[in-house]
Amino acid sequence: MDARTVLSALRRGEALTPESAGWFGRALGTGAVTDAQAGAFAMGVCRAPMDAPARVALTEAMRDSGDVLVWDLPGPVVDKHSTGGVGDCVSLVLAPALAACGVFVPMISGRGLGHTGGTLDKLEAIPGYRVDVDEAHFRAVTAEVGCAIVSASAALAPADRRLYAIRDVTGTVESIDLITASILSKKLAAGLEGLVLDVKCGSGAFMKSRQGARELAESLVGTAAGAGCRAAALITAMDQPLATAAGNALEVAEAMETLTMAYVTSPLWEITVALGGEALALCGAAEDVADGRARIDGALRSGAAAERFGAMVAAQGGPADFLQTWRDRLPGTPVRRVVAPERAGFVARVETEALGMCVVRLGGGRMVESDRVDPAVGLARIAGLGEEVGPGRPLAEVHAASDADADMAEAAVRAAFTLGHEAQDPPPLVLGRVGP
Ligand code: URA
Repeated sequence: MDARTVLSALRRGEALTPESAGWFGRALGTGAVTDAQAGAFAMGVCRAPMDAPARVALTEAMRDSGDVLVWDLPGPVVDKHSTGGVGDCVSLVLAPALAACGVFVPMISGRGLGHTGGTLDKLEAIPGYRVDVDEAHFRAVTAEVGCAIVSASAALAPADRRLYAIRDVTGTVESIDLITASILSKKLAAGLEGLVLDVKCGSGAFMKSRQGARELAESLVGTAAGAGCRAAALITAMDQPLATAAGNALEVAEAMETLTMAYVTSPLWEITVALGGEALALCGAAEDVADGRARIDGALRSGAAAERFGAMVAAQGGPADFLQTWRDRLPGTPVRRVVAPERAGFVARVETEALGMCVVRLGGGRMVESDRVDPAVGLARIAGLGEEVGPGRPLAEVHAASDADADMAEAAVRAAFTLGHEAQDPPPLVLGRVGP
């Protein structure tokens, strides 16, 4: 096998075989193909989609291009992955809730991408929290606390790191096959027995259509299973921010309010419980999904999940008393501005991607990779679909570093909301399921 043979077949529109896909995945890791060949490969896959066995072979080869963790723990090892959204702080609530239910969650997370937020950026809003711990520390926190949330080390799925950078500059990110291999190669290198996937769909998701989201969900679940990891996916609505806040410290605050039951908003709770129920059922830690949901609900209500979160924060360098002192510890902004609607009405549509981009432009995300993130900025009290807004209920509250930034955000928030005249029921959050 060699790169020219594989690429010539792709040029002729022939499907990759498992052998050729696996060969290329390995070659990405060993350096046996050049960047030009990798770019041609990515373009070829976009033009000639893979079948399931080839996709599994590529994913396994990319997973095995670096370290693959092996665990010896007194319980199943599971994780959750979201395809990304706005105000999606589920990981902060779900990882400790799963840990409180007796499973182990070695969560390797990412940073904000485009208009979406990233779990690592959110956790770094906590003073002292370190995401870049070494493998021994990662293992120790996972074993002792039950969950750890860290960044990927360079030793994990290096073939994906390389291919992702090449896809980014060759216009080949949007391939279901390549997205599947990219997400799963990293997740499966963490040595999981079960993986629950939250595939977002709607105005704030990368997948805008339900059909696209379903195709991605089927690809992810089938490929994970083919590579030996039980998986299930929920297709969930991202037509409005999931939490009522979007921004790093603001989302940590909402996660803390949820974990401590101080203030609970139903979409965040509902999605956390739905994904947690699936995860516990997948790995046999619950009798079925309904039992799993009840266990997650119980772990949140009892405070057991909050305790795990506090222990994880302390073990990863944050304040030992974060659970008690989080309101004083999280950074704030010099400017806060309430954005009232121009007229009263009911929220009929939210341009969720635009709200995510507003947070990025406030400094809460990156326009280029080297940008420094301001953990304090963002939007809070974001009105939900169907909600009545008017003099007593704003569209959102802007947290900004300057008045000029707040002016920009105020205009962006106003433009992102469409108001109607009639009350609507909140739309369903879980749109579909793919799994065993
Ligand atoms: N996230 C990833 O890790 N890879 C992709 O290709 C897309 C999203």
